[in-house]
Amino acid sequence: MDIRHFLAKQSVFINERIKKLIPKGTPEKLFDAMAYSLTAGGKRLRPILVIESAKAVGKESIEEIIDIAVATEFIHTYSLIHDDLPALDNDDLRRGKSTCHKVYSEAIALLAGDGLQSYAYELISQNKKVDPAKLVKVIYLLAHGTGIYGMVGGQAADILHEKENSFDDVQFIHTHKTAKFIQACCQIGAVLADATEKEESALKNYGLYIGLAFQIQDDILDEIGDEKKLGKKTKKDREKNKLTYPSVYGLEKSKEIAEEYVQKAISEIKVLKNPEILIELAKFIINREV
Ligand code: IPE
Ligand code: IPE
Ligand code: MG
Ligand code: MG
Ligand code: MG
Repeated sequence: MDIRHFLAKQSVFINERIKKLIPKGTPEKLFDAMAYSLTAGGKRLRPILVIESAKAVGKESIEEIIDIAVATEFIHTYSLIHDDLPALDNDDLRRGKSTCHKVYSEAIALLAGDGLQSYAYELISQNKKVDPAKLVKVIYLLAHGTGIYGMVGGQAADILHEKENSFDDVQFIHTHKTAKFIQACCQIGAVLADATEKEESALKNYGLYIGLAFQIQDDILDEIGDEKKLGKKTKKDREKNKLTYPSVYGLEKSKEIAEEYVQKAISEIKVLKNPEILIELAKFIINREV
């Protein structure tokens, strides 16, 4: 199976659904800013992981879960808008376009991020097709993975290290700022597919390992990637004194560590009914150039 082709097809499908779910309202500038960042591109990896994790444990129809998958992309887009703000990474380019704050002002970018986050939870909680008890679990997993014990905590550690050199555990930063959200997406897929405890635990571990590999590859691409392909500036981490895998272990060792995480991820999911796509996805994460 050609995973790149598969992912391209899946992202077209996700993009169609995103377009339908983009909120409209006033003030127009706020809504335009949210739509701008949501439609700027991106791999759509997190919604794809929700869907493919559900399929891996045998879910056939994804109609009722697609909007929940899309909600994870709303949250991811919020995280990118905030990550690019001058107070955080201060980036001008994202997904091949000017960052949200460059186009709409810092204040509106901040609020567009806030808006995308809360709207994601509106979307999930209003789902009429999924059992409410399952929705509560999904909401918990997403809030936990992206909040103070997940992404927000990791982002704070990332920034504190850069500004005060006070946080020096790269494993903590990567686990929290990136892996826990990715892990939550895999677990959400499991919950929505009525996975057994064993299956959910396999997907939870898989998510953590691919999440770590994903951020290591992001760090590697910051050093040696192609700015045009990536759609974001490279060589920024060094400039900003970020704590990354390449800065701690060097490039070659970082690649080895990422490869080890991918192998661990793959061995976790062999117990699932249909692990093939997730296996290819795990390999893609460290072979990607985007
Ligand atoms: C970038 O995420 C931010 C990180 C967590 C490293 P992606 O590489 O998934 O960004 P898009 O969605 O494809 O633009
Ligand atoms: C960002 O990590 C992780 C997020 C939670 C958004 P980076 O700051 O390395 O992501 P990029 O390189 O800007 O996409
Ligand atoms: Mg950052
Ligand atoms: Mg950044
Ligand atoms: Mg990066």
